[in-house]
Amino acid sequence: MEVGGVGTAGAELSDPRFEILVARLGADLVMGGPEIARYCRDWHGDVTTGAVAVIRPRTTADVSAAVKVIGELGLSIVPQGGNTGLVLGATPDDPAGQVVISLERMTAIRRLDADDFSAVVEAGIVLSEFKDKVEAAGLYFPLALGAQGSCRIGGNVSTNAGGINVLRYGMTRDLVLGLEVVLPDGSIFDGLSTLRKDNRGIDLKQLFIGAEGTLGIVTAVSVKLMPPAEQVATALLGLNALSDAIALYRRARRDCCDLMSAFEFMPPVAFTLAREAMPDLAMPMSGDYPAYVLMEISGSGLVDIEDLMQRFLQGVMEEGLVLDGVVAGSRAQARNLWLFREGMNEGQAKRGPHLRTDVSVPLSKLADFVRQAEEAVMAALPECLCVSYGHVGDGNVHLNVLPPAGLSRGEVDGIIYQAKGLINAVLARFGGSISAEHGIGRLKKTDFLSGLPETQAHLLSAIKRAVDPHIIMNPGCQLNFTTDS
Ligand code: FAD
Ligand code: LAC
Ligand code: ZN
Repeated sequence: MEVGGVGTAGAELSDPRFEILVARLGADLVMGGPEIARYCRDWHGDVTTGAVAVIRPRTTADVSAAVKVIGELGLSIVPQGGNTGLVLGATPDDPAGQVVISLERMTAIRRLDADDFSAVVEAGIVLSEFKDKVEAAGLYFPLALGAQGSCRIGGNVSTNAGGINVLRYGMTRDLVLGLEVVLPDGSIFDGLSTLRKDNRGIDLKQLFIGAEGTLGIVTAVSVKLMPPAEQVATALLGLNALSDAIALYRRARRDCCDLMSAFEFMPPVAFTLAREAMPDLAMPMSGDYPAYVLMEISGSGLVDIEDLMQRFLQGVMEEGLVLDGVVAGSRAQARNLWLFREGMNEGQAKRGPHLRTDVSVPLSKLADFVRQAEEAVMAALPECLCVSYGHVGDGNVHLNVLPPAGLSRGEVDGIIYQAKGLINAVLARFGGSISAEHGIGRLKKTDFLSGLPETQAHLLSAIKRAVDPHIIMNPGCQLNFTTDS
């Protein structure tokens, strides 16, 4: 795998294994040559690699057939959804030995049942397209993240994605009722139940949620749907500090009960970064504050959401917890506020390679953790910019470190490595997790394995060997398996 490279080791059309794949699966399903470059580059463009081929099945039977042939050829599989993952799980690390299976053509909604509040959907549908179709049917699918215009539901399941609505609706795992999975021997695990309660023994589908494609290929998912939020109140609030944001979150949980659907923290640099990605964004507030919270309350039926937001804000402003704020007066204004939060990622990507973290600590310790981790980075790397933001209601912060401009790739990599070590040392003192929502992939494998207790390592190895004895599924991702280990 070439880190920071620009070339691609694209599929060799003369590779006999490529020819066999075409002969067995048909040219329609198998892609090679320069066309595969976009499947072999991660979202940030930090890594450019290659593959023997990219296979794009149309049906579960196609996936099963592909898995069997790939196994016979002694190759391994990297499943791919929207390729928006942030930990290098969806891009190969052995271009001469791996085939990408992209689910992008499996996009059907097999069933949408308003009475059951459930849907059965194929793994390749883009999340925002699914949400739109659910909305058109008068229902709501609450998973929401900045990448939703590109990520696909099978990828969301395989990373157990989080996003902005976790505090109310849970992670992807909490929204999954059932799965259909093609296993490494090509057989099909048919578990597309829409039952809400089913305690018939060990819940096998849980094995595949968050497995990052290491145990099988998710081909379809049954999910819970919710009543639509007919009323939504969105507010951007200026505060004195992150510690005040945590205090505000506790107040909001008490005062707004379960109606709070998002509570995101942003530093002042969020506005600069978002406008570097989207220069036309209109500034939402006058005045500068040390910390910002983007908060959303939503509900349907007889509750007056706007009134609740106004009364809540009145109280916390009188107390001085919130210094100033703006409440969106329309859906368009709310969208504009969210663009600042979403634009932060693109803004940082535009500044080039940087350290991205995805850590969680107990909520009560979050402000202290961020202060100590930022202090440690700034003491050692004063020329860098720390950008801490995210889902503070979940105790999850993305504490990123941006090196200064004008350095070589080697120097940048050195800074990233050093900053990561400093942050992880503080994180260990707080008993936190190095991956709250993005997963392990290839990027965090070393850190994951070094912190893995022996009993967990043993269990994970046993599961992997039982389900995937020939190590076909995404070797190099999560655990340190290769085909010859
Ligand atoms: P991919 O990137 O294609 O794959 C991710 C992993 O899942 C890989 O290991 C891959 O092999 C495996 N995989 C994919 N599809 C399948 C399948 N059908 N069967 C088996 N394995 C499969 N993540 C969050 O949790 N919260 C956020 O708020 C968030 N915000 C983001 C914002 C931006 C701008 C970006 C670029 C990313 C963000 N992410 C976030 C990360 C990413 O979007 C999620 O991890 C998402 O769930 C990945 O979905 P995908 O379809 O792109 O998966
Ligand atoms: C976010 C991604 C980075 O929260 O997880 O924007
Ligand atoms: Zn996030």
